[in-house]
Amino acid sequence: METVTAIRQLCDHVGQTVRLRGWVYHSRPGGKITFLVLRDGTGLCQCVIEKNDASAGFYDDIKRLAQESSLEVTGTVSADERSTGGFEVRVSDARVIHPARDYPITPKAHGIEFLMKHRHLWFRSKRPWHVLRIRSTVVDQIRRFFNDNGYVLIDTPIFAPAAGEGSQTLFKVDYFGEEVYLAQTGQLYLEAACMAHGKVYCFGPTFRAEKSKTRRHLTEFWMVEPEIAFASLDDVLNVAEDFICSIAERVLRDHRDELVELGRNLEDLQAIKKPFYRVTYSQAAELLRGPKSKALLESDLKEKSIRLGELDQRITDLESTAKSGSASQWAKDKAAAEAIELREERSELQEQIGNIPHHIELAQNFEWGGDLGGSDETIISRLHDRPVFVTHYPKHCKAFYMREDRSDERVVENFDLLAPQGFGEIIGGSAREEDYDRLLARINHEHLPQADYEWYLDLRRYGSVPHGGFGLGVERTVAWLCGLKHIRETIPYPRMMGKFYP
Ligand code: 4AD
Repeated sequence: METVTAIRQLCDHVGQTVRLRGWVYHSRPGGKITFLVLRDGTGLCQCVIEKNDASAGFYDDIKRLAQESSLEVTGTVSADERSTGGFEVRVSDARVIHPARDYPITPKAHGIEFLMKHRHLWFRSKRPWHVLRIRSTVVDQIRRFFNDNGYVLIDTPIFAPAAGEGSQTLFKVDYFGEEVYLAQTGQLYLEAACMAHGKVYCFGPTFRAEKSKTRRHLTEFWMVEPEIAFASLDDVLNVAEDFICSIAERVLRDHRDELVELGRNLEDLQAIKKPFYRVTYSQAAELLRGPKSKALLESDLKEKSIRLGELDQRITDLESTAKSGSASQWAKDKAAAEAIELREERSELQEQIGNIPHHIELAQNFEWGGDLGGSDETIISRLHDRPVFVTHYPKHCKAFYMREDRSDERVVENFDLLAPQGFGEIIGGSAREEDYDRLLARINHEHLPQADYEWYLDLRRYGSVPHGGFGLGVERTVAWLCGLKHIRETIPYPRMMGKFYP
């Protein structure tokens, strides 16, 4: 294969002639000179094509190339701080590979529905490009953390005969005439493996038939789950803390520029240091009912209402510019594009404003015993500047395998880790019930078919030991790190209720 240089490597080739292959990201054609921003998958680079430099013929072909056409160029590299990417290539030869026409995603603004429908093309735009690179690093760091710390990877099955996390969110599959389910968790299988290897983890796709259309729920997501023998709840919390710090540090180290482009506040991520806050469920309930939580939401209501007023005014102005007879076509297009973005913001804001009184009521009347809802988690996480562990939830709202607290049997030794600034739960975990009789009682109490769990009960029959672990959702973690409001942008092809195209 001929040598092709990656745009990311141009720094090593200043003064040299290189060959680049890629797609037209943007082009400014002229009679004598054309500026073309080339995208090759590793970065962007400005290519300068002068008619006089060009061997006969190719100038006009290149000049006519539309957005996302593919091509190969040869030229000399110079460093130029003002150029996109910091380097410029003065083109001496070029070859069109495929001319694109009418690429649907233009530099104008598009609504999110449109972009999600064109996800297969939207990948090429800056924001998804940054987010999916950060996701790739997060996944790499997850594997590194466990591999470097003595954990053994155990791949758990995707066809599962029984529920791991509650029967309401199971996807049923016909398995040669038998009903089985897509895995909601690999945990139960991991518990068996940790009795063989001590420290284990699994990492794979996870399925939940979530009927709610929220910004935090996918029906298919990726979860990593470690499981540790001879571990107490505190041991598991300490591992989770180190794990999250390692991910935040790595992303900050490798993706500073991308985070800045995404508008992420870097200081918020630099603050991700041990120790994280640790509050019990009962303390969290008090916090929700307390004055700080109410004041937070009331000030939200005020701020959001002011912003809504500003948006209404701005949208009216833009609409009149877009329709105006005297404005240039360029100004009309620009106004129309901005109006699309602001209308989207307005409709989100209206929904949030409509929900706030309900969220205040839920929080103020929160009763001990209920599970924390999404809005409750948001409040608790916004009242903290670092991640918060919420521990010891009421037994009846949690999974059957969680260890009963021996000093207060109304609660279990579990935890959720809430990311700060309102991003909410990214990890769920617990110590597991190691006592055979207690576990069997929970299985029966939940009306789970005991026969399906006989193998799991075996783990408590033969050398049972205290153990525990947790599960981290990759997409919620990426949303938090990138500062994205909605989880749908953190996975290449999101699957949500009613959404599975492309
Ligand atoms: O709290 P969950 O349900 O815990 C478990 O599945 C345990 N078996 C884990 C364990 O202890 N080994 O889920 C763990 C994490 C959540 O904190 C969240 O980050 C993610 O998985 N998650 C989802 N992410 C996206 N969409 C959904 N529908 C999710 N449900 C859970």
